[in-house]
Amino acid sequence: MDPVRDIEVLVRAKYPILYVCSWEERRVEEAVKQVCDKLKRTLHTWSVTQGMKPAVNRTSGPAKPGGLPGELEALAQVHEAPEYTVFLMRDFHPYLKDSRVIRLLRDLAGRLRTKAQTLILLSPVMNLPIELEKDVTVLDFPLPGRDDIAKMLDAVIASVKDNPSVDVKLSPEDHELMVKSAQGLTLDETESAFARSLVEHKKLDIDVILEEKKQIVRKSGLLEYYPATNRLEDVGGHDLLKEWLLKRTKSFTDKAKEFGIPAPKGILLIGVQGCGKSLVAKAVAAAWNLPMLKLDVGRIFGSLVGQSEENIRRAIKVAESVAPCVLWADELEKGFAGVGGSGVSDSGTTARVFSTFLTWMQEKTKPVFLVATANDVSALPPELLRKGRFDEIFFVDLPDSSERKDIFKIHLKKRKRDPEKFKMPELAKVTFGFSGAEIEQVVIAGLNTAFDDGRELKQSDLVKEAQASVPLSRMMAEEIDELRMWAQLRARPSAKRTDD
Ligand SMILES: Nc1ncnc2c1ncn2[C@@H]1O[C@H](COP(=O)(O)OP(=O)(O)OP(=O)(O)O)[C@@H](O)[C@H]1O
Ligand SMILES: [Mg+2]
Repeated sequence: MDPVRDIEVLVRAKYPILYVCSWEERRVEEAVKQVCDKLKRTLHTWSVTQGMKPAVNRTSGPAKPGGLPGELEALAQVHEAPEYTVFLMRDFHPYLKDSRVIRLLRDLAGRLRTKAQTLILLSPVMNLPIELEKDVTVLDFPLPGRDDIAKMLDAVIASVKDNPSVDVKLSPEDHELMVKSAQGLTLDETESAFARSLVEHKKLDIDVILEEKKQIVRKSGLLEYYPATNRLEDVGGHDLLKEWLLKRTKSFTDKAKEFGIPAPKGILLIGVQGCGKSLVAKAVAAAWNLPMLKLDVGRIFGSLVGQSEENIRRAIKVAESVAPCVLWADELEKGFAGVGGSGVSDSGTTARVFSTFLTWMQEKTKPVFLVATANDVSALPPELLRKGRFDEIFFVDLPDSSERKDIFKIHLKKRKRDPEKFKMPELAKVTFGFSGAEIEQVVIAGLNTAFDDGRELKQSDLVKEAQASVPLSRMMAEEIDELRMWAQLRARPSAKRTDD
């Protein structure tokens, strides 16, 4: 994807209004300038503080400039400008809320086309009123690529090479690693990170760049850095699922790429409550040694119209800027429930956010591995389950007897008890129908009883606790059966289960 070429094509084809979404004014302006030089267009740039530069001489309308508010005056100048002109408007987005501005832009669109003029709105946020959707072409300006960053790195190195107090010697491998780790940052951020690294550490340090990326995630407010606290060994059972994940441990490396393996896209974990869906999701990042970001689906849906769509685009961009990484979308159905349903009263916002998300999943090229979880399949839009979205859909069922033993062992060990001292077959038997979370509760409740009595935990504490509690699966037998039937046709089981 070459943004300069994209802009050139659109300007040539007389697209009247382009909306370029980017933080990088310098790079975008450079690109637009390049296009204008090549196509012999006159370039005017506008910002609220500087006005139109160079100004367009107006022959009609209010005589003195200043008679109109800045943004309207700017559009009036556009109206008057001669043919073959390009206007680059910086941060015009706040005015797109004004109905007069919207109307003026719509009036202008046809005129711009006939006069071979292009109006480019440049802004870091995407906020397009519905009325303008047909007249405006949205362009994502990608972050700097490998070569741009390498050039910047070389420039930084060259600028300090005579300074004896800093060490900027990099082996070719480290040079490449440095460039790679900066991918996802804007050019300005890259420059700052390199500079900070030189000031703080007297050398180029990858950790500083990674810290810069954490900042981006934090500032976005939509994603959350999740420390990798769980490991796959903390997950009992789910052998097939674990095997699948372990087999792909190295699939994000260059070697795998050279071998012809595409980066895995993601998995969807569907299943019974408390059976370890979230647990597995958290363990993936640790198993693959990748950073993990949690997407808060609820937070995506902002209160302002248009904001939700902007949010999801931003969240995707941020995740891609940290790639390779794991993106965890927990309880997906809660956010995207009711897409296309008649009861939806948000005038299609959910549907649009959802479709942005789907398109991204289908076409994503950056190594962002999505782990999504869901309990309620009836709330999931069918498009989500279509082939090509996820690598695999796993069904996470209640643990069978051998898995229950595993889970008991894990939770006993976690609380510094020796599993060997307990009779697993009996424990597995009395917890028939229990979820992993419920088994954990049995262990905790047993410990409480023993502690209260002032003695060590015994087998009978666990057995009694299990017998005293009713697993959710007994109350929800019908729902679980339905889920199983659904899963039989559409999902892969997370473990080879035996009936017990
Ligand atoms: N297979 C398992 N192995 C070990 N512990 C488990 C397992 N399943 C559940 N647990 C325990 O139960 C807790 C809750 O499980 P988790 O949150 O992963 O369930 P979930 O499937 O995401 O449930 P929900 O649908 O309610 O979100 C875990 O933190 C873990 O301590
Ligand atoms: Mg969960």
